[in-house]
Amino acid sequence: MFRIALFILPLLVACGSGTDDSGADTTDTPPTTDTDTPVDTGDTDTTPSFDAEAFYDDSCSGCHGDDGEGTASGPALTEEVPEITDEEIEEAILDGPRSMPSFEDTMTDEELELLVAWIRAEFG
Ligand code: HEC
Repeated sequence: MFRIALFILPLLVACGSGTDDSGADTTDTPPTTDTDTPVDTGDTDTTPSFDAEAFYDDSCSGCHGDDGEGTASGPALTEEVPEITDEEIEEAILDGPRSMPSFEDTMTDEELELLVAWIRAEFG
């Protein structure tokens, strides 16, 4: 009986030390860096494409002629435009001198710029 107890004791000690948990197993997963950046669909370019030629045909050609040759209602831009600056063209469009209507409230700055550039290219 006594011998059996002596035989078992070392086994218990061995087991006890074997389960020594130092708690060193700290392989914590690093905080997941959330790379879920929202997809940028908000392209702010919402300017509708502006067709200067179509705008001229609609709004200007009635007085200045399809080819800028002028009518009874408006002078020939082919003659006027080479004589004046881009600023003066802009002013005319915004102010609407004499019987010409003002387009100040009709156009954005960008459209005005495109229209002036088109007029310059087309009529000199
Ligand atoms: C209702 C007729 C009419 C319409 C529409 C009209 N114009 Fe005119 N426009 C005139 C008249 C008339 C003048 C001359 C004003 C003056 O004698 O100072 C003029 C002058 C101008 C001038 C200045 C010429 C100069 O020698 O200073 C420009 C540039 C011009 N118009 C461009 C345009 C453009 C671009 C449009 C369209 C966006 C337009 N016009 C629409 C009648 C019109």
